Amino acid sequence: MPMMSSQRSATPRLLLLGGTTEARQLADALAAAGVDAVYSYAGRTQAPLAQPLPTRVGGFGGVAGLRDWLRAQRITQVVDATHPFAARMSAHAVEACAALGIALVALERPAWVPQAGDDWRAVPDIDAAVAALPRAPARVFLAIGRQTLDAFARAPQHHYLLRLVDPPLQPLPLPQTTLVLDRGPFTAEGDRQLMLAHGSTHVVAKNAGGSGARAKLDAARSLGLPVVLVQRPQLPPRPRVGSVAEAMAWLAAHRAALGV
Ligand SMILES: NC(=O)c1ccc[n+]([C@@H]2O[C@H](COP(=O)([O-])OP(=O)(O)OC[C@H]3O[C@@H](n4cnc5c(N)ncnc54)[C@H](OP(=O)(O)O)[C@@H]3O)[C@@H](O)[C@H]2O)c1
Repeated sequence: MPMMSSQRSATPRLLLLGGTTEARQLADALAAAGVDAVYSYAGRTQAPLAQPLPTRVGGFGGVAGLRDWLRAQRITQVVDATHPFAARMSAHAVEACAALGIALVALERPAWVPQAGDDWRAVPDIDAAVAALPRAPARVFLAIGRQTLDAFARAPQHHYLLRLVDPPLQPLPLPQTTLVLDRGPFTAEGDRQLMLAHGSTHVVAKNAGGSGARAKLDAARSLGLPVVLVQRPQLPPRPRVGSVAEAMAWLAAHRAALGV
């Protein structure tokens, strides 16, 4: 049963679903504007960056858990600034907010588009990315984080260069790897040097969009390397904004509509 009427009388309080550079930028803007907001991390990294907002860490426990949390915290607005590949969290947010009549907007960065000199092979998902690699042994910069590495165990002939935020807690599922521990944002020149140093012949990446992770694509172009680029997962329809400034304007307009 929607709860629009009770939400309307509530003091505005915002949940920011984060884990991205864009969420960090929005957190700065919210803190500067004195907005009552909570920043939420999934808890994937061992030492998440400190945020200028009160912060919680960990899953909510599915849609039901998120609904309970939103109610208990008297949240009136949600900004989903998660990574475009965090499809489960985004779908849960749509469902929970619709059930409670809470206003939701997604801060969604535009997908990257190729420019002259790019050699991109767009694939729909990680399995297709594995299949798009050559049969002959290659040296692959696998810039996809750690959650979907298992799929590449089906192509053990390649050497994989992995860049992760934390050392893996489990043995890696790939027989030939070089591990680099680093946290973005990265630079095109830094990524170019990394690929040269490791003799990379291919790059696998997700079409995340934004500036912080784009460096590897610019570096691949400058080296003439092919990029297997995983396209974004489908998400349920939801209101969207494309920048921190637009998110702040959405917030102000929604608060004005609440009479705040
Ligand atoms: N996927 C990527 O490539 C990628 C890249 C960079 C950063 N990230 C960040 O890493 C986090 C996890 O990504 P994912 O791909 O694992 O997401 P996901 O598959 O959509 O989410 C899986 C589960 O993790 C929990 N979760 C995800 N984001 C959360 C958040 N911000 N706050 C609290 N719980 C969260 C939720 O657990 P419950 O169901 O228990 O609530 C969700 O159902 C996201 O915050 C995302 O912004 C992801």
